[in-house]
Order: sequence, then C-alpha cells, then structure tokens
Amino acid sequence: MTRSAIFVTLTVAEGDEGLAQVRGLCADLPSLIKAVGFRSAEAGLTCVLGIGAALWDRLAPGAAPQGLHPFREISGVHHAPSTPGDLLLHVRAARPDYCFELVTHVMRRLGPAATVQDETQGFKFFDNRDLLGFVDGTENPLGAALTEAVVIGDEDPLFAGGSYVIVQKYLHDMTGWEAMTVEQQERIIGRHKLSDIEFADADKASFAHNVLTNIEDAEGNQLEILRDNMPFGSPAHGEFGTYFIGYAREPGRIETMLTNMFVGNPPGNYDRILDVSTAVTGGLFFVPPADMLDTIAA
Ligand code: HEM
Repeated sequence: MTRSAIFVTLTVAEGDEGLAQVRGLCADLPSLIKAVGFRSAEAGLTCVLGIGAALWDRLAPGAAPQGLHPFREISGVHHAPSTPGDLLLHVRAARPDYCFELVTHVMRRLGPAATVQDETQGFKFFDNRDLLGFVDGTENPLGAALTEAVVIGDEDPLFAGGSYVIVQKYLHDMTGWEAMTVEQQERIIGRHKLSDIEFADADKASFAHNVLTNIEDAEGNQLEILRDNMPFGSPAHGEFGTYFIGYAREPGRIETMLTNMFVGNPPGNYDRILDVSTAVTGGLFFVPPADMLDTIAA
C-alpha cells in the first residue's frame, strides 16, 4: 500500500491512429517509468497498464486471454454499472508528485487518441483506513499465496505471468454511515473498527462483508484476490469515496464476490456496505506481464 495513487480509465479512438498511439505507449512505458522513478528510489514509483476486451481485440486479433471480457453489470438489491474503458493506468508511489508526473507523460504520449473516462487521485488515510473508518487491506494474501492468487499460470500459457484487474469507483453516503452505531458498522464489516481484529466466525452476521467476499472452490480452497483500494474525495464538495481495485489470476472469483455483495448469498442477503456506497464505474482489464508490452508494441 502506497501513500498515493492515480487511477486513470481511458477509451481509445476508433481507427489506426489510436492503435498506433497505444502501441507507442506500450513501447515507451518502461522507459517513462524509469525516467520519472529514477529520481528517487524511495518514491517507489510503479505503473500497471490494463487493457480492456474491445481494445485487446483491436490490438491483437486472434488469441485473447481466456478470462477477458467487458465488465458485466450486476443488478441485484444494488446496482454495479459497467462503464467504458479501453485502458487502465494504476500508478502508485510514496509521493503524489511522482504519480502526477508519470501520468502527465503517459497522457502526452497518447495524445488526442485517448479520451479520459475517469481520473481518480487516491491517498492513504491514517493507518490504511478507508473513509468509512475501517482498516482496508488487512487480509490480502502475502508471499507465495499472493502469486498463486494473482498471477496467471499454466492454465493459459500464452498469457502466463499476466493478471486481471477489476475496478469500481464507490461514493459513500457519510451521513447514512455516521447515523449508524459503531456496533452496527462492525457487524457490516465483520471486524472491530478500532483494533481491526476480525470477529470470530460464530459472531459474524451472514451479510458481513468478510463473509460474502470469502469464497472457495469446489475442493474447499479459499479463492483469494489482491486489493489495493484507496480513499479519494473532495471534502469541501461533500464527496467521499473508495476506489476499489482487485487483481486475480481469473476474474471469475472477483465476479462471484460482487454477485454475493450486490445480489446477496443467498439472494437478498446482500452486503450492507452498499446501502451507503454507490458504485459509479465498473471495468475489467487484462494486465500483460511487462515483457509482453514489446510484443503488443510491435
Ligand atoms: C475486506 C472495505 C469493496 C473484497 C475488506 C475490509 C474492509 C473492506 C474494511 C476488511 C479488512 C481487509 O481485510 O481488508 C471495502 C470497501 C469497499 C469494498 C469500503 C467498497 C465500498 C470490495 C469489493 C470486493 C471486496 C467490491 C470484491 C469484489 C474484499 C475481500 C476482503 C475484503 C476479499 C477480505 C475478506 C476476508 O477474507 O476477510 N473490505 N471493501 N471488497 N474485501 Fe472489501
């Protein structure tokens, strides 16, 4: 988790000009990251580039990553929209100026071929809390479990080393959230607010966020994802949000979590975070491994 991040979703103009610009960016991105990031190793600048299904078909007709498709909207008790996006940039650093500078150069490189659908600047809030006041990210997998959760392997050899990412921008109704008692909020999240300690399974509500997002495969193995959510907002304008970003080796597990949250598991037993959080964007992207950028550029 970094102190700052910028999330940018872009669409790419029809026609060859747009594709040429994207190929040019793929060729140059590693050196742009190096040029901006080299000024300070402590800044730890990184950038992930995600490519949406429609753009992938235009860039590389033929083979496509098995799990790549447009984000599917979900209509249950609450609604998760699918919004336009050909490219996703996930730029992270210990300092906002590094993120800002890299995005500036990427946008210059893309030129008028790219239309910005969304730009969200995220920041670290106290001890990794979201704006609802809970520590966010605690249960992320680490080490070998992280690689296992996130990196495509032999199941799709052409795309091994890559990943999938799903993003959603959520706006919070802080008045509604703050009208609840801390005990009610803790029941919704399934953890203690101050200490971040998880409730014992027997004490968790069936609709707790960490019950609905805890999913298993047919053999009973937990299916994990990597989240790097960031708070964002504009307090003077009354905007308070969470930018959800989840990585996985196949998008189905994130989609199952979303269905559990929005439709409920069983249907109707939905995630109460959504009573005070509205999803306003939704996108799904393939993340090529760094060495595949050259192939896309060619
Ligand atoms: C856990 C907040 C959306 C998946 C958590 C936790 C918090 C949180 C506070 C507990 C600490 C932790 O383990 O990180 C939020 C907020 C969201 C949001 C504020 C949006 C408004 C989502 C979405 C997904 C998701 C959309 C997946 C589709 C998870 C998972 C866990 C988790 C897998 C770990 C559960 C466990 O195994 O204990 N989230 N979350 N979250 N969240 Fe979310």
